[in-house]
Amino acid sequence: MKGFTATLVATAGLLFSGIASAKITEPVTVKGNAFFVGNNRFYIRGVDYQPGGSSNLADSLSNTTVCKRDISYMKDLGLNTLRVYTVDNSANHDECMDLLSEAGIYLILDVNTPKFSISRDFPVASYNEVYLQHVFATIDAFSKYTNTLGFFAANEVINAANSTRAATIVKALIRDMRKYIGKHSSRPIPVGYSAADVAENRREMAHYLNCGSDDARSDFFAFNDYSWCGASSFVQSGWDKKVENYTDYSIPLFLSEFGCIDVKPRIFNEVKALYSTQMTGVFSGGLVYEFTQEPNNYGLVQINGDNVTTLTDYDNLKKQYSSTNNPSGDGNYQEGLPPSDCPARTSSWEAFNTLPDLPSAASTYMNNGAGKPQGTNGASSQFVPQNQKDYKLPGESGAPAPSSSGSAVNSGDKKKGGAAGGMAGLAVGSLWMGTVVGLGTIAGAMLLF
Ligand SMILES: *[C@@H]1O[C@H](CO)[C@@H](O)[C@H](O)[C@H]1NC(C)=O
Ligand SMILES: *[C@@H]1O[C@H](CO)[C@@H](O)[C@H](O)[C@H]1NC(C)=O
Ligand SMILES: *[C@@H]1O[C@H](CO)[C@@H](O)[C@H](O)[C@H]1NC(C)=O
Ligand SMILES: *[C@@H]1O[C@H](CO)[C@@H](O)[C@H](O)[C@H]1NC(C)=O
Repeated sequence: MKGFTATLVATAGLLFSGIASAKITEPVTVKGNAFFVGNNRFYIRGVDYQPGGSSNLADSLSNTTVCKRDISYMKDLGLNTLRVYTVDNSANHDECMDLLSEAGIYLILDVNTPKFSISRDFPVASYNEVYLQHVFATIDAFSKYTNTLGFFAANEVINAANSTRAATIVKALIRDMRKYIGKHSSRPIPVGYSAADVAENRREMAHYLNCGSDDARSDFFAFNDYSWCGASSFVQSGWDKKVENYTDYSIPLFLSEFGCIDVKPRIFNEVKALYSTQMTGVFSGGLVYEFTQEPNNYGLVQINGDNVTTLTDYDNLKKQYSSTNNPSGDGNYQEGLPPSDCPARTSSWEAFNTLPDLPSAASTYMNNGAGKPQGTNGASSQFVPQNQKDYKLPGESGAPAPSSSGSAVNSGDKKKGGAAGGMAGLAVGSLWMGTVVGLGTIAGAMLLF
């Protein structure tokens, strides 16, 4: 652990404010299987940002003290993108979004919170008007910022064969979000999904979200990947196979989390591969997990009150970024690839290709706007039907018997110490489960996280 202290932060802050700011004026757009800003290919050089860890639900983008403290480091690191896992949609984010813009940083935002997310066990029940109001209001809160790159509709909901049915709801939600953006935002904003680092189902999920009619297809796909550990290589990590497998994938693809910690300190030599033409024809960069040091030990910086201390991983990542240019030209992106074929339903892939309609009670939000954001408090939208069975999906004859247990579901997430729980829709680190399990009851129905 080494690095600079508060004094230097203050100096850096002054320095940055003295420089003519290059505020972001153009949004990121999707063309073929890549992102662009204007005519230039855009590669995500990002980090996952959840100071306080997943156990702390503080909205760091509404706390200017926090974002100011961190942004000069993000700029120093050479980032152009942040992923934030949860926000309070009723808070004001103007100042932090503005500071990010001045630092040349875009935001990819997960639209879920612990109380407002898709339930893995009762996905159809959790797809209701209370939830959709929350999601649409979150879109309203962020669509006005030019540096909102995109939205994750959900994160790691599908983690095993028995949760693949929930993919139907994820896809319906993506369709609804895209339609809402089309009606209520002044510009298109890409919507996609972040898949867990589990080999089974990931391929099906990628193709499922990119198949069928255009209005229901995802704008991008991302997955979490912890397979490049230590001084690995393109071939040893298996990233070569991933490039091969997604060569014909027609929408942008990137790593929503990477940075295995089996070998510490991390040297991040995967950065060289990720931004080389070995990969850029198929992948558009990725997000390092994660900016701040939390109990699961993935941090680049250590936060102590107002003080930020950079760790060795920070220095190593910074070195890699600064010595790794993007490929010249367009990096061999591809345009005009056909959408994917929908995967067939099998015993290990239970998603339906016919999606449920938007719940009728949510159509007022779709048509007239979401109205007042409800924030992160109040009752959860994730209620469970009285009979402990999920509602049926179109085409489903008998609803499968859902789990009657409210205990954590093992997600299969390969992050060490970051076992995500059953709180589908959110990235949950090790602590979050402990905090939210047994959060409360609604009308006698157990909340299943
Ligand atoms: C902002 O974050 C700081 C540091 O975590 C905290 O002390 C402060 O209470 C937060 N402010 C608000 C308004 O939440
Ligand atoms: C899936 O399997 C896990 C582990 O066996 C279990 O805890 C969970 O409740 C199951 N989920 C569904 C939707 O059946
Ligand atoms: C690539 O695709 C093949 C065939 O579908 C699959 O068996 C394999 O696991 C995939 N490999 C990777 C690294 O995704
Ligand atoms: C922050 O750094 C300053 C200057 O080095 C030091 O005096 C202060 O105790 C530190 N604060 C915390 C909370 O570590």
